[in-house]
Amino acid sequence: MTTTLLRGRLLSFHRAPLSLADSQSYLYEEDGGLLVEDGLITAIGLYADVKAKAAEDTVEIDHRPHLIMPGFIDMHLHFPQMQVIASYAANLLEWLNTYTFPEECRFVESAHADRIATHFYDELIRHGTTTAVAYCSVHKTSADAFFAEAMRRNMRMVGGKVMMDRNAPQGLLDTPEMGYDETRQVISDWHGKGRNHVAITPRFAITSTPAQMEATSALAREFPDLHIQTHLSENHDEIRFTCELYPDAIDYTDIYARYGLLGRKSLFGHCIHLSEREADAMSEAGAVAVHCPTSNLFLGSGLFPLKALARREKPVRIGVATDIGGGSSYSMLRTMDEAYKIQQLLGERLNPLESYYLMTRGNAEALSLADRIGTLEPGTEADLVVLDATATPAMALKMEVVKTLPEELFLLQTMGDDRAIAETYVAGVALKAGLC
Ligand code: GUN
Ligand code: ZN
Repeated sequence: MTTTLLRGRLLSFHRAPLSLADSQSYLYEEDGGLLVEDGLITAIGLYADVKAKAAEDTVEIDHRPHLIMPGFIDMHLHFPQMQVIASYAANLLEWLNTYTFPEECRFVESAHADRIATHFYDELIRHGTTTAVAYCSVHKTSADAFFAEAMRRNMRMVGGKVMMDRNAPQGLLDTPEMGYDETRQVISDWHGKGRNHVAITPRFAITSTPAQMEATSALAREFPDLHIQTHLSENHDEIRFTCELYPDAIDYTDIYARYGLLGRKSLFGHCIHLSEREADAMSEAGAVAVHCPTSNLFLGSGLFPLKALARREKPVRIGVATDIGGGSSYSMLRTMDEAYKIQQLLGERLNPLESYYLMTRGNAEALSLADRIGTLEPGTEADLVVLDATATPAMALKMEVVKTLPEELFLLQTMGDDRAIAETYVAGVALKAGLC
C-alpha cells in the first residue's frame, strides 16, 4: 500500500456557493493535510491532525504555499480536433465543413489516433484536467486509442464513438446499423474497464438520419446508465437547418426528446439559444447544458445565458467545458475567464467561487459522479490539481496585493493557464512532472 500525505492550502466545495460571502459552501484549510492511500483520499483536515493519523512510512509532499483542489473536469471536448484549433472560419457550419470534418477523417488510421491520444492526455494533465468528456471520431479506432491511453494513465474519462450518417464527407459516415453495432462494441470493449465510461454519442441531429436517431434511441434504452452526449442550439443557421431536417419536431430540443435522449445523463453542448419551452423541457428532464465559452466566442456562436438558466423557476443543470477544437484553450482557468466575460456582456456576475465550484464539484454533479470525483472528501478518488498563483512575474506582482481567497482564485482565473498548474495528481500519482 502506498500512502502519501500532501501538505498545502486545501479547497473543496460542499455545494454551489450562493454568493461571494458564502463561506459555508466550501472547506478551506490554510495549513491542510490530505492523506492519500492507494489512489483514494482517506483523510483531510489540519495538517497536524492528519499527520498524527498517518503511518510512519508515509511519504510527505509539501506543496505550501500552493492551493490543492480537486482536479478540473472538462465536460465537452473533441479528441480528434487537436489540430483543428485556430482554424479561421466565419461560423460553425463553415468551420465544420472546411476544417473539422476533413481532419477527423484521418482518425481511421490507428497510428494517427494513437499519436494524438498521447498528446491529448499530455495536454489535459498539463492543464490540471483529470477527467474529461470527449467525442472521438466516427471510427472505432479513435475510441480504442482514446480509452487505451486513459487506462494507461489511470484517468477517469468519459468518451464515445461519434455516430453520424449524413451531411459529412464519405470518410466520416457510418450507417444506422454500423453506428449501433460499433457503439455496442466500444461499450463491451471499454465501459467499466479501468476508470473508463462510454457515452452514447450521436454528433448532432444534422449528421444523423431519423433511422440513426432510432438506433441511438435503442442504445439509450439498452444502456440507461450510460451518458449521452450531443450538440444543441449552438448557432442560428444550425438551428434553422436542423428544424428543416426534422419538420415534425416542435423545436431542436424536441428532436432529441422524441428519441428518448433527454434525461439526467444527457449532456448537451452549447444550448445558447434555447426557447423558454426548451429550457423547461431540459429542466424537467434534468438534462445538462454544457457551456463552452471559448468556443462560443471563437466561432461567434453567441452568449450563453448561464446565470439566467441557473436561476429560473425551473433551473437548468449546467456544466462547463473547453470544446477543443472549436474552443481555443485546454485550460479550464482560461475557460472560466471567458465564461466570466460572457456574463459581464449579459449584465450578469459570475463570481470566482461559482467558477471553481463549476470546474470541480459542479461538473462532477452534472456527470452524476460527485461520489467519486470533484471534491476532496474522504472515500473519493485522489485526482487533484495544485495551483500556483505566482506562476508568472505578472501574477506574482499582482499577488502582492491579494488579500482574500476569492481574490486569489480570481487572479488565477484571469491570468492563469498551464503555467499556474504546479502539479496534477491522477489517483494519487503526480503526473505533471513526468511531462516535457
Ligand atoms: N456541432 C456538431 N459537431 C460539432 C463540433 O465538432 N464542434 C462544435 N463546436 N459544434 C459541433
Ligand atoms: Zn462539441
